[in-house]
Amino acid sequence: MPDGIFGLGLRTAHYRDFLAEVPPAVDWLEILSDNYLVPGGKPLVMLDAIRARYPMAMHGVALSLGSVAGPDPDYLKRIADLARRVQPMWVSDHLCWTGVHGHQLHDLLPLPYTDEALAAVVRNVQRVQDALGRRLLVENVSSYVEFTASTMGEAEFLCALCEQADCELLLDLNNVHVSAVNHGFDAQAYLQQLPAGRVRQFHLAGHTDHGDHLVDTHDHPVADPVWALYRAALRRFGPVATMIERDDHIPPLPELLAELATARRIADETLAVAA
Ligand SMILES: [Fe+2]
Repeated sequence: MPDGIFGLGLRTAHYRDFLAEVPPAVDWLEILSDNYLVPGGKPLVMLDAIRARYPMAMHGVALSLGSVAGPDPDYLKRIADLARRVQPMWVSDHLCWTGVHGHQLHDLLPLPYTDEALAAVVRNVQRVQDALGRRLLVENVSSYVEFTASTMGEAEFLCALCEQADCELLLDLNNVHVSAVNHGFDAQAYLQQLPAGRVRQFHLAGHTDHGDHLVDTHDHPVADPVWALYRAALRRFGPVATMIERDDHIPPLPELLAELATARRIADETLAVAA
């Protein structure tokens, strides 16, 4: 297993842990870019101190790559400024739209998978990549509705996006599982469709089971079907950077470190067999 694979999301509840005399054994941290866009103040002080100890990735929620209007220029400039400060391994956002007519909806909304939507997302990703001077990672979101207008599947859409915008992917395996259950598609087949050389990062997260549908709440430990999908993803994509993503009900850090140790054990076992 190469070094530098296993990371965690940096959450404010764990700032002290990551600044302790003996830093936790985590290879890298993913920050929520949107928490560090205001100049000055405690968040940036903490960020700089922790950055001095760990490599970081930047993960944002508001580029609105799926909107016709595209990223807000001021927001994009602030993301680019933060990237200059953090010097992250990579920058990511989601395949979704988050607002309309200047209103921020604070939700990651799915888009129809059509040629027209693809052209808009390609244009938006290229704008972001031009501003950042680097490739963007685009993350699959979980969804609860599908558009009858769609003319292709999500995996096909992501393939075309990678090809046309020359971007990369952040594959959220929990989101794949949630959408696969909600819409009745085969998660393993979805993985097989994605371009192997473009997947740069995995998210592992938990969800809430409502019986007839799953909701991507990111407030539970990783579920067994998602660990199974992780094994399949490792076989397909190799030792890709892997992170536990918890956004709510944040537990003490040792709990997340234990989950990360599980990911490490699964990766070791899976890749040893695959070798
Ligand atoms: Fe995610």
